[in-house]
Amino acid sequence: MKRIGLLGCGAIGTSIAIAIDGGKIPATLTHVYDKSKENSKKLVERLQTKPEITENVGLLAAAPIEIIIEAASQEAVRDNALTILQNKKDLMIMSVGALLDESILEVILQACKDFKKKVYLPSGAIAGLDAIKSVKDELESVILVTTKHPQSLKGAKFFETSDVNLEEIKQPTTIFEGDASKAVKLFPANINVAALLSLTGLGSQKTNVRIVADPNTDKNTHSIEAIGSFGKLFIKVENIPDQNNPKTSRLAILSAIEKLRQICSDEISIGT
Ligand SMILES: NC(=O)c1ccc[n+]([C@@H]2O[C@H](COP(=O)([O-])OP(=O)(O)OC[C@H]3O[C@@H](n4cnc5c(N)ncnc54)[C@H](O)[C@@H]3O)[C@@H](O)[C@H]2O)c1
Repeated sequence: MKRIGLLGCGAIGTSIAIAIDGGKIPATLTHVYDKSKENSKKLVERLQTKPEITENVGLLAAAPIEIIIEAASQEAVRDNALTILQNKKDLMIMSVGALLDESILEVILQACKDFKKKVYLPSGAIAGLDAIKSVKDELESVILVTTKHPQSLKGAKFFETSDVNLEEIKQPTTIFEGDASKAVKLFPANINVAALLSLTGLGSQKTNVRIVADPNTDKNTHSIEAIGSFGKLFIKVENIPDQNNPKTSRLAILSAIEKLRQICSDEISIGT
């Protein structure tokens, strides 16, 4: 069985740890690290098989494990992805927005080659990445429209410089329109799906993003329209927000668990 390390013990990390502990993923969680010791302890308390809490991320990277799951923040990816790969560990990244910084992406791509390691990016809160991957060379335009309750957008960097007052929004209102690289910078905790879509398809400058604040919704909805010489693709996912972190959709957690299950299993691989 694969030995797994976890970087980040919040909503996603906790669900993944519980899935491993409950036998859904044929692996053992042996080490965890979170910059909040309290969060690491809270997680470990919930598990039957207790992983070791490492004192820092360097010790996590050096531990005798095969793969590290990052479920922390873009900062955690920026600061630690290279060290993890240098320590000859595969890496699953949830804070995908970090990879829209081209210098980070280049470093990670080169490290994968140099150390013969893999980086996995689960599909997150959207569907259809398999199709977008397949038609990549024939794509002409990609638009993502993300609709969330104003509460789920609260605290984003965007509001530091914008006049938009979320409390005053009474009907569905487009608060942002721009390319994916801008969207990820201004809404780092909300729009990992824009990063995934860009990395799979046309790149961050040619992937258009619209963010709608809707006080009447209790879902995180992502609609994707992709057009090209292959035809047209329309995908809409209405996500239930996670109970512990409304910025994170339930599907994002389930897709990470399924990806990890595949990585750890010897079986037929379905889908592109
Ligand atoms: N790929 C996707 O589709 C997708 C979907 C939802 C969320 N995410 C991203 O996944 C990450 C985790 O999401 P979550 O809902 O579990 O968040 P969360 O806030 O519930 O948990 C994050 C945990 O990571 C810890 N942490 C943050 N920065 C850290 C660092 N530098 N070093 C160590 N620990 C650190 C925090 O203390 C916290 O315990 C976020 O970056 C989020 O944007 C990705």
